[in-house]
Amino acid sequence: MSSINHVAIIMDGNGRWANEKFRPRVWGHIRGSNVVTSIVAKASDLNLKALTLYAFSTENWSRPETEVSTLFKLLKKFLLKERASIKKNNIQFKIIGEISGLNPETQKLIEELEEDSASNTGLKLSFAFSYGGRAEIIRSVNQFIEKNPGQNITEKNLEANLYRPEAGDVDLLIRTGGDQRISNFLLWQISYSELFFTNTKWPDFKASELESIINKVSQRDRRFGSLDNDGSLDNTKKLLKEKNE
Ligand code: IPE
Ligand code: IPE
Ligand code: MG
Repeated sequence: MSSINHVAIIMDGNGRWANEKFRPRVWGHIRGSNVVTSIVAKASDLNLKALTLYAFSTENWSRPETEVSTLFKLLKKFLLKERASIKKNNIQFKIIGEISGLNPETQKLIEELEEDSASNTGLKLSFAFSYGGRAEIIRSVNQFIEKNPGQNITEKNLEANLYRPEAGDVDLLIRTGGDQRISNFLLWQISYSELFFTNTKWPDFKASELESIINKVSQRDRRFGSLDNDGSLDNTKKLLKEKNE
């Protein structure tokens, strides 16, 4: 059985994809946004528990105004277009990130889709928008301090105050576009993730490539610091417990 439950994707390479075709960068974003539907459908078909997609980082605010506004328009279009298939596929949708900077209309669409899909029991789909991993950790710590003044924070507390704790740790992080870096994505959740970098630029990424990456990575030996082949945190804890009894 595959141990890949939560997949996160850094959807990178839109601009370079468009430039190669002598088109403006925003063309790459438009074509890239069309890919999302098939990837979400595949993740749902494969019975993944969670899929987290990096759509816009806190650092992406520094891009030219026209590019930023295109990305916002595409988010709005996605929220309207995907409503039916989110419902049909029993997907629970959430945005992670600081959405307070978005226009009120988009914020309302986000709230509506989150509420409408809240009782769905299938794939936990998260869109990371205006998202930064460092900001998420700081926010979590501050939320904890506010509720528990004077107390030390634990790993469990920190996790509980993340944007979407129920999505859990990331098992597999994929980055398209050929660069091999994290760019401030899910810093807490990737501590034991398998990493996979593909040269495919996001607008060319296909559901079949997602499936083949998952199959490949499922063969890897994830040891979590332990020594046994099917090592897992649970297993390690079990051994420790037996030793102490
Ligand atoms: C990823 O594509 C989408 C966002 C960061 C919003 P890029 O726009 O970063 O495309 P490249 O990496 O410049 O090709
Ligand atoms: C990461 O890509 C953010 C998203 C894909 C949304 P960037 O293109 O912003 O990352 P850098 O600048 O190459 O590190
Ligand atoms: Mg990029």
